[in-house]
Amino acid sequence: MASVLVVATSKGGTGKTTIAASLAAYWRSDGKRVAMLDTDPNQAATRWFRKGSSYDNVEAQATSDEHAIIGAVQDLSERADIVIVDTAGFGNQSMIYAVGIADLVLIPVMADEASLFEASKMKKVIQSASALTRREIAFRTVLNRVKRATVVRHTERQLEALGLNPVDARIGDRAVFQEASYHGSSPQELAPKATASMEIRRLARELEPALLKT
Ligand SMILES: Nc1ncnc2c1ncn2[C@@H]1O[C@H](COP(=O)(O)OP(=O)(O)OP(=O)(O)O)[C@@H](O)[C@H]1O
Ligand SMILES: [Mg+2]
Repeated sequence: MASVLVVATSKGGTGKTTIAASLAAYWRSDGKRVAMLDTDPNQAATRWFRKGSSYDNVEAQATSDEHAIIGAVQDLSERADIVIVDTAGFGNQSMIYAVGIADLVLIPVMADEASLFEASKMKKVIQSASALTRREIAFRTVLNRVKRATVVRHTERQLEALGLNPVDARIGDRAVFQEASYHGSSPQELAPKATASMEIRRLARELEPALLKT
């Protein structure tokens, strides 16, 4: 059975879809069988995965019916090593079901107060889902779109203080992520030696121990 990575935060626009797509492309290029479930009614990930040919080998499904989420994840799990679930950027029942079936929840955070506030709310959602399912659901935060080092350091201190488990990897504010969205591509394909690709690889490797259990 696959491991399930849910990318979620109730803060919109923090990079959930961008990071989900970039990680999918990285793990695919690393020989993993990757599947993607898009639970956002806006279906940005679905459009991304259908463009171009980068995601030809990634089975992608979409559903905005919250009651279909667990079944869809279980179905995809039979044919994948990692199932990545993209979620909508607001608190909703789909997100709670997705978190409930996650092996790991990744919370993208930007260096601003609203992102931190919503990440703290996500921690509570994950803790509630853990209590409900009687198992510990792991979660990590990743700083995305970073620019100024001083603001980044401040945000990282806050993440630590709030017990939000930041990874060491940080994702910079880089045009290649936006370019990739137009082409249905990824930093790995468009600029394999660029910093963005290295950042995604570093993030993927930090998440792997919680996902690839063999
Ligand atoms: N590291 C980055 N560098 C540059 N641009 C980025 C980066 N991450 C995300 N973006 C841009 O920020 C915007 C929001 O990103 P994205 O759509 O991935 O966020 P989201 O959390 O999925 O949003 P939503 O909550 O609407 O689903 C997009 O225009 C995307 O191209
Ligand atoms: Mg999105």
